[in-house]
Amino acid sequence: MTKVNKTSNWVRRHAEDPFVKKSKQDKYRSRAAYKLKAIDEKYNFLRKITSVADLGCAPGSWLQVLKEFKNINFIVGIDLLNVEPVDGVYIAKQDIGDYDSYIELFEKKDSKLDLVLSDIAPNITGISDVDQSNFSDIALNILGFCRFKLKPKGTLIMKYFLGSSFEVTLKTLNNNFNKINVFKPPSSKKKSNEVYLICIEFKD
Ligand SMILES: C[S@@+](CC[C@H](N)C(=O)[O-])C[C@H]1O[C@@H](n2cnc3c(N)ncnc32)[C@H](O)[C@@H]1O
Repeated sequence: MTKVNKTSNWVRRHAEDPFVKKSKQDKYRSRAAYKLKAIDEKYNFLRKITSVADLGCAPGSWLQVLKEFKNINFIVGIDLLNVEPVDGVYIAKQDIGDYDSYIELFEKKDSKLDLVLSDIAPNITGISDVDQSNFSDIALNILGFCRFKLKPKGTLIMKYFLGSSFEVTLKTLNNNFNKINVFKPPSSKKKSNEVYLICIEFKD
């Protein structure tokens, strides 16, 4: 199949995707909104928190979902890309591995956060070993962020792509959290090896 055919097939499939259609009706910036909603329906954590960081937040549909919870009074979103503003949300354009900028970013918020979310997807090279190594590096950066800003007993929810690095990453997370659940939301495409790791009770 030529590159042009592949692209037009992707555009057609995307337009026909029921979650894409629903996100347009519901005015969410992306279909990813339904992944966070499904995670929350199962684990029911958004009603119980007041502060959250959303890592890899562009274009911002998770930020829109978070804004629906009036109990949450501090939301920060971080991404390499520009993100259209969301009322009342502090948005920073930076790499989550850039620890020095965190210190500046959180100068005004000295207490720690109840929840860290990460929907980060690094660029996929198609070379399995390289991709798995990138996923595991991102997980370590996210853990570094948790050490800096997540409360003891706080929750981390992060996207991961199953593969050769998964067991080692899981072991590292198990050393830092009391319990880890693996969840695949209905809106996560079946042929994708994407899952969400629900990491409960940060040990600090
Ligand atoms: C699947 S999108 C997130 C969608 C988002 N949850 C939403 O609801 O709109 C993944 C994002 O991760 C970001 N990303 C990838 N690597 C990153 C890094 N090192 N630091 C910050 N953001 C990163 C990408 O720029 C991309 O916008």
